[in-house]
Amino acid sequence: MHPMLNIAVKAARRAGQIINRASLDLDRVQVSKKQHNDFVTEVDKASEAAIIETLHTAYPDHSILAEESGKDDRESEFQWIIDPLDGTTNFIHGFQYYCVSIALAHKGIVTQAVVYDPTRNDLFTASRGRGAYLNERRIRVGKLDRLADALIGTGFPFRDGAGLDAYARLFSEMTLSCAGLRRPGAAALDLANVAAGRLDGFFEQGIHAWDVAAGSLIVTEAGGLVGNYTGESNFLHENEIVAGNPKVYAQMIKILDPYTRTRQSAA
Ligand code: IPD
Repeated sequence: MHPMLNIAVKAARRAGQIINRASLDLDRVQVSKKQHNDFVTEVDKASEAAIIETLHTAYPDHSILAEESGKDDRESEFQWIIDPLDGTTNFIHGFQYYCVSIALAHKGIVTQAVVYDPTRNDLFTASRGRGAYLNERRIRVGKLDRLADALIGTGFPFRDGAGLDAYARLFSEMTLSCAGLRRPGAAALDLANVAAGRLDGFFEQGIHAWDVAAGSLIVTEAGGLVGNYTGESNFLHENEIVAGNPKVYAQMIKILDPYTRTRQSAA
């Protein structure tokens, strides 16, 4: 395993312990609201602190972009992109679908990725050019050819209702075009599940780099494609993402293209 990936795994497992311990007594977890329907808990913060401490002990000069503490001011070619608890709303409710997401970008390109599901002790990893793994096992995206047969994951707009009308139209179109549409509630884990072939595709808008950085490398290393709604690969900081096996991805882009953030804001 690449040494930088190894450190990321160590950080993710430490965070997972914090999350699992807290999940045993959810009534005691303190929750605050960042904005409407957008929550943060003391567990997100403790998890993030443990991750950053582990990474900085190994690589003191690397910079950080993390969901709760934002971007630090270190100047480095290496940036760790962290979601310490992706699926916070699920976690608060004891709905056990959430994960830790850690990616390393080198000069803006994601090269190492970990998505860790602490409930199932499932560790998804990828290093650029080296394939994607679930625990010790190599994973690949699904083989379906037709969107009509595909199980697709998504995320709904939930914060302030912006974009909800357009999303409702897109929801109808996608529902009629695929075999099933799911909203599990943790984008990083949804992407990891695309990589493992459990979902055939995924799309969401209003998303942040920390939600998708690690999962996107795991998908591409598993043989899938990732981009924005118009199919371009510069999605990381564009707030919209589509991922899937190559055949399903192409059919999803045809539906998603008119709904791209750029076209919707021009309308
Ligand atoms: C959220 C989850 C959710 C997605 C949101 C994300 P958080 O992450 O991934 O599924 O719909 O866009 O913000 O806030 O729980 O880390």
